[in-house]
Amino acid sequence: MRDALMLRTARLTLTPPTEDDVEAIHLACQDTEVQRWTNVPSPYTREDAEQFVVLCAERRSAGEEITWAIHDAEGLVGMIGLHRIGDGSAELGYWISADARGRGYGAEAGCAVVDFALGPMRLERIEWHAVAGNEPSARLARSLGFRFEGTRRRGIRASAEREDAWIAGLVASDDRSPVEWPVLEPRTASLSIRRRRRRPIRVSGPRTAASSALR
Ligand SMILES: CC(C)(COP(=O)(O)OP(=O)(O)OC[C@H]1O[C@@H](n2cnc3c(N)ncnc32)[C@H](O)[C@@H]1OP(=O)(O)O)[C@@H](O)C(=O)NCCC(=O)NCCS
Repeated sequence: MRDALMLRTARLTLTPPTEDDVEAIHLACQDTEVQRWTNVPSPYTREDAEQFVVLCAERRSAGEEITWAIHDAEGLVGMIGLHRIGDGSAELGYWISADARGRGYGAEAGCAVVDFALGPMRLERIEWHAVAGNEPSARLARSLGFRFEGTRRRGIRASAEREDAWIAGLVASDDRSPVEWPVLEPRTASLSIRRRRRRPIRVSGPRTAASSALR
């Protein structure tokens, strides 16, 4: 089953997470951005990471969701998943570890999962939900071809309080070319410049900071 779900891209391998990923997930989930924008427990313990891996397997067996650990040549760099699978649709969620952001990994993994969802899985629709104001996540979804569909007031809980949620969708018949979103600056050359400046310098040695969980 795990091998059947393996997805490969130019730089990344996506496979369901295992016990071997627990340490890196635990470290990754200490990241403040992951804690702010996703629904990971806070504080995030090693037991949370262990339970996350077990839960992923249970939900995969039940056909409710598929979660992939994203690895580059050096190790775990993120997590991506299709949640609430049913009736021809699913919800896309992701995080990329703090020290691996800004290199296009999110877009590369996202593209592979969207290909899989709209291809072999034959889903008709993929949804994306985020806390309103999560621009990095919104830009990633836009780059995958998602169309902005609106704001749900108090539509999401990623922290102690419910917050407004941005919603976007991608349907199988969309051509997946990025379109403008009313809540984001237009896609311009300045975005690409900002992206290049943001890109961190990668150092050798073990990965430290990071992020975890989805949505
Ligand atoms: C959102 C996240 C997964 C992006 O991952 P990433 O690997 O850095 O994204 P990429 O390098 O593939 O970039 C994809 C697009 O997003 C844009 N982007 C990513 N991070 C950005 C940032 N901090 N500021 C502005 N744009 C950003 C890129 O410019 C690119 O858009 P473009 O093609 O229009 O230029 C990452 O920032 C993250 O894990 N955040 C914390 C957890 C989170 O918010 N998860 C989503 C919850 S809904």
